[in-house]
Amino acid sequence: MKAIAVIPKQKNSVHLVEMDKPKLDEIKDGRGVLVEVLRVGACGTDREINNGEYGVAPEGFEFLVLGHENFGRVAEVGANVKELKAGDFVVATVRRPFGHSIYDTIGQQDFTTDAEYWERGISRLHGYMAECYVESADFLIKIPPAIAEIAVLLEPLSIIEKGLKQAEDIQKRLDIWQPKTAAVLGIGSVGILTAMALRMRGYEVHGFGRDARNGYFNAELLEEIGATYDSTAESSVVDSVAKYGQYDLIFECTGFSPIIFDAMQSLNENGILILASVTGGERKTDAVPSDKINQMFVLGNRAMVGTVNANREHFEMGVKDLALCEAMFAGWLGKMMTHKIVGLENFAEAFDVLNNAGKYKAIKAYFEVNKI
Ligand code: BGC
Repeated sequence: MKAIAVIPKQKNSVHLVEMDKPKLDEIKDGRGVLVEVLRVGACGTDREINNGEYGVAPEGFEFLVLGHENFGRVAEVGANVKELKAGDFVVATVRRPFGHSIYDTIGQQDFTTDAEYWERGISRLHGYMAECYVESADFLIKIPPAIAEIAVLLEPLSIIEKGLKQAEDIQKRLDIWQPKTAAVLGIGSVGILTAMALRMRGYEVHGFGRDARNGYFNAELLEEIGATYDSTAESSVVDSVAKYGQYDLIFECTGFSPIIFDAMQSLNENGILILASVTGGERKTDAVPSDKINQMFVLGNRAMVGTVNANREHFEMGVKDLALCEAMFAGWLGKMMTHKIVGLENFAEAFDVLNNAGKYKAIKAYFEVNKI
């Protein structure tokens, strides 16, 4: 079968490989599921891996099959799989509990404390940019056919759901927390999905990005679901507080780390700031009003939390939000899927879109590997 691979740490090494089709019995205890890949999303992490910044090949391989944003159809199930059958739509989670930390042993590998981690398409495990894959049913989420067209958005959404779940858990420290307003910093595909998830929870949502509002399709999408958009090229997030008030919740997904200090100064009393950008660079900033920020956090009981990856429960939360959003704003999620690349062999096209997202006005680029 065909698959898209890179040589980790080697810049622009993306290429097509030919591999044996995986077999059900690679998964023990009859829990294997063979999945025909239908769609795979391409994202910033794939771009960074192909840039040589990130990614580890599985043991015994010099290449890593890319792809973690996935959607497929069950082709065959092992003898002990009762929850899925051939023909079902599924999305697979990304991280596996192969580490040594206690969190791995209790199935909370998304909270691993190990420095090494096993993530399909990212680190130590081949990914889903292939014609098919096998996986244990334990790591597959069943997808209702009604959301099949947009289900490739579930994996990026799962990251947001985990962030929001962490916020909710942390805010249980307050006997009553009735958040009303939220700011979303960065409105690429992750930011748009975040705005959606917050709108589904009834928040008043304010999105921020660098682009000017005029002609910015991402901003139009936000407004269609009742959120606002402001360009930080015109005024800062801190300044926006004069217009919208301090935010009860702020979700940061810009990839531009200095903005977190703006976010910290824009948070309401008892509010929570969620950080979700994996900033692998060397950027430093010194323009930080540290006394002010520290005092705001202390006197206002503010909180800040980092979040990465997602577990089964977060994918399941995401399924519900996708279904609710389709019910409330039919067709809106589909508008995010701006660039379809037909066939894995056209990987160069996908990486061109990823590397020049601004030029292409791309929100979500994805492969159609097989037809739904
Ligand atoms: C993936 C996560 C992963 C993270 C760090 C993200 O792009 O969606 O599942 O944990 O990268 O590798």
